[in-house]
Amino acid sequence: MTRLESAFGAVGSAQATVVTGAGGLPMQLADLPTSGPWGEKHLLGLERLTAAQINTVLDLAAHYDQATNGGTERLSVLKGLVVANLFFENSTRTRTSFSLAARRLGADTVDFTASSSSLSKGETFIDTALTIEAMGIDLVVCRHRTPGAPHLLARHLKAGVLNAGDGTHEHPTQGLLDIYTIRKHCGRIAGLTVALVGDIRHSRVARSNIHGLVKLGARVIVCGPSTLVPNEIRQLGVDVAWSLDDILPEVDCVNLLRVQFERQRGAFFPSIAEYANLFGMNGDRIRKARPNLLVLAPGPINRGVELTPDVADGPHSVILNQVSNGLLIRMAALSLLAREHQKKQDAA
Ligand code: NCD
Repeated sequence: MTRLESAFGAVGSAQATVVTGAGGLPMQLADLPTSGPWGEKHLLGLERLTAAQINTVLDLAAHYDQATNGGTERLSVLKGLVVANLFFENSTRTRTSFSLAARRLGADTVDFTASSSSLSKGETFIDTALTIEAMGIDLVVCRHRTPGAPHLLARHLKAGVLNAGDGTHEHPTQGLLDIYTIRKHCGRIAGLTVALVGDIRHSRVARSNIHGLVKLGARVIVCGPSTLVPNEIRQLGVDVAWSLDDILPEVDCVNLLRVQFERQRGAFFPSIAEYANLFGMNGDRIRKARPNLLVLAPGPINRGVELTPDVADGPHSVILNQVSNGLLIRMAALSLLAREHQKKQDAA
């Protein structure tokens, strides 16, 4: 079985028909080798996607992985299109990853930062976005501290909108890249037990992971200080635990979420040392866990808080693989939305 076949087979999707252009690469949006349904103009969250749609993104990312040698070769799928990055909140990896993904696919990119824009001169969020769109933008990648900001853009713009993190709500491409990384290392999602550990209350990454993992048949346990794990989270189909040591023996993957101090209003635990002691991943805990435990973290990581350096750099960690996979997931998401955008334009 080839790597691509195993990636397609792993999620139990129907036999994939991979249609490629010259040299095995998809050269035009119309030739995109999709394995299942999509049909979405925007990517705003995983809550509104079906399992089949999620698998379509994961499978296309797996295709790009193979076809572009891990995302290192350039394609021309998005040639002639313009992708705008609208980041109203700090970002290192997500912003860079989206820019690189767009350029790897042949698109032009425009970068916009809130602090250097006319927003500081009083222009509204929508007016800024409409101004940027009037320059001929096809896709907009938006990060904003307010939940729902990308949804608002989607209602006002003709461009396709990708949510790159809206406050504490969702961060769909991070959820997808985490799930892709798990699928690639474990060969499946269904039947796995995944623990999301830390600041669940303020984490958009937790919410996107939960929606995606539950839809694909994983058991999700959220674990953290009781002040950082809201009770309502059970409604999303997860189990709740307060002790990492209790759940570790039954866990296949652990995703360590940063304590989002910048989003907290008040003290949620007595000290960082106590947090690290109860919920940090360290060598002792690794020794008590399953031998194949996969350790993920969306980053930025705080060494000594969510995890110790020996775990971050050790054999269980796939933290840097997540970053590389993020490029592939964003290439897949951008192409799927670009195809819908083009269909709408052709129909107009
Ligand atoms: C996450 C985010 O911004 O929500 N980071 C990321 O996108 N890689 C998680 C975090 O900030 O802790």
